[in-house]
This record gives sequence, structure tokens and C-alpha cells, in this order.
Amino acid sequence: MTSLSDLRRFKVENRKFSCLTCYDSSMAKAMEVAKVDTILIGDSLGMTMQGHDSTLPVTIEDMVYHTTCVSRANRYAMIIADLPFASYASPHDALLNAKKVMQAGAQMVKIEGGAWLSETVQLLTRHGVPVCVHLGLTPQSVNVFGGYKVQAKTRQAADALLDDCQQLVDAGAALFVLECVPAQMGKEVAERFSQTPVIGIGAGADTDGQVLVVQDMLGLTQGRIARFVRNFMIEQSGANAIIDAIQAYHHAVIEQQFPAIEHTFQIEL
Ligand code: KIV
Repeated sequence: MTSLSDLRRFKVENRKFSCLTCYDSSMAKAMEVAKVDTILIGDSLGMTMQGHDSTLPVTIEDMVYHTTCVSRANRYAMIIADLPFASYASPHDALLNAKKVMQAGAQMVKIEGGAWLSETVQLLTRHGVPVCVHLGLTPQSVNVFGGYKVQAKTRQAADALLDDCQQLVDAGAALFVLECVPAQMGKEVAERFSQTPVIGIGAGADTDGQVLVVQDMLGLTQGRIARFVRNFMIEQSGANAIIDAIQAYHHAVIEQQFPAIEHTFQIEL
């Protein structure tokens, strides 16, 4: 089974790693066969599984249910579970809710925010819960941002994000997810924190890992498709098309063929 120390080793060796969102057992098994390195039970399930417009309606009970479904079927990937909207408003709440998803089979929790989460990161880590912090475009704050927009587009905003990362690393953050930021920002964060792997989604080619929502990379998402998405299903045919597409994604990430320049935000900082 992939562990946090494997991810740290991959970073040192410059071996990129793959991550996909996953919410159910059959997809979790497909990802085990394809040897996807890490799985995220993302609160994007609010959209992909439940049909909502955002992640805000997702509950901790939903996260526990989907974490159980995924963890039963995949013994290969490191499993990260999101703590949903407002479920970590205090460090104490974060610990109570982290306990639920960890007991359901997660090996790490992900929370969204900045340096203000330092105390929470410290408490969780002290209690044996490794923490991934999601920065940049954080979908739980869509109503604060006023939409799903590229973040850290100026030098000042980039420096503020780097400062958040530093404080979170000091508090014990073990992993970052960086979403929708200039490619240069992804590179700067990955280079600055040599012990902390960084997973990007729309953060350029220089982060240590990449993540996509599985429905996006299988071409199942209708409507507006984000710039950072590549449809890996389009290249497949035959009986094992889904597993082949997942495998193609994994190989494209580790061989550094994905993301290509057209999937990234090229903004000079
Ligand atoms: O919930 C989710 O799927 C996520 C990814 C977009 C990184 O947080």
C-alpha cells in the first residue's frame, strides 16, 4: 500500500505520482488494477454523486459512507478523505470528524484553507491524523470567491500563499493540494517545501503529483469543462476502456506528459 513516506520518497526522486477522486467500490477496484498512487474521496461527490451545484451540502456522514465504500475495494492507493464544509470550524470539531473518516478507512484527511488552520493541523497531527491542506481555489469557499476562478495571480497574492504554506508546514501539514493557480505558483510551492509533496489540479506540470476528478477524465462531465482537464477515455476502445483510461492517466502523470501546456495557467508572477 502506498504511504506518506512513499510520496515523500517520490518527491525526492522526482517520480511524479497520480491521484484521482473516487467515491465507490467498483471505481476503487479499477484504480487498484491501474495502480493509481493516491485516491481522494473528495467532497466533489456533492456534484458527481449527488447532483448538487457545489460541495457545500456534503455531510460528514456522506464522507464516511463513501470512504467505507472505497477503502473496502482498494488496498494499493493511499486514501485521503475530505472533511466537508464547516465540519472543521474548530480544532475540536476537526478531530471528532477526522476520527470518523479515519475509522472508515482513510489514511489522511484534507481540509481547505490557509494559515488560520495551523492549530487544527497541529492538533490532528498530534493525534495521529496526517493532514493535507487544499489551497488556491478552495471550492468550499466558492461563495467568498464569487465563482470558480484562478487564484494567486499577482506576486503579492503568490507571496501570501507561500506564507500560508510555510505556517502550515511549521504546524505539521504533510501534503498540499494546490488548485487553479498559475503554473509558476505550483513550481514555487513544490520547490520551496522539499519535505512536503504537492498535488496539483490546474497548478502546472511542476507539482509532485496530479489529481483530477475521475468523471472529468473519463469524459462524463457535461457542460463547462475546466482548462486543466484532459479526457483520457477518448483514446480508448475495447472491453477494458475505463481501466485503460485510468492507466493511461497514471502513466501520463508519471511520464510527465500530463498536464501539458494547454492544461495550465501561464501567468507571470
Ligand atoms: O473534492 C475534490 O474532488 C477535490 C479535488 C478537486 C482536488 O478537492
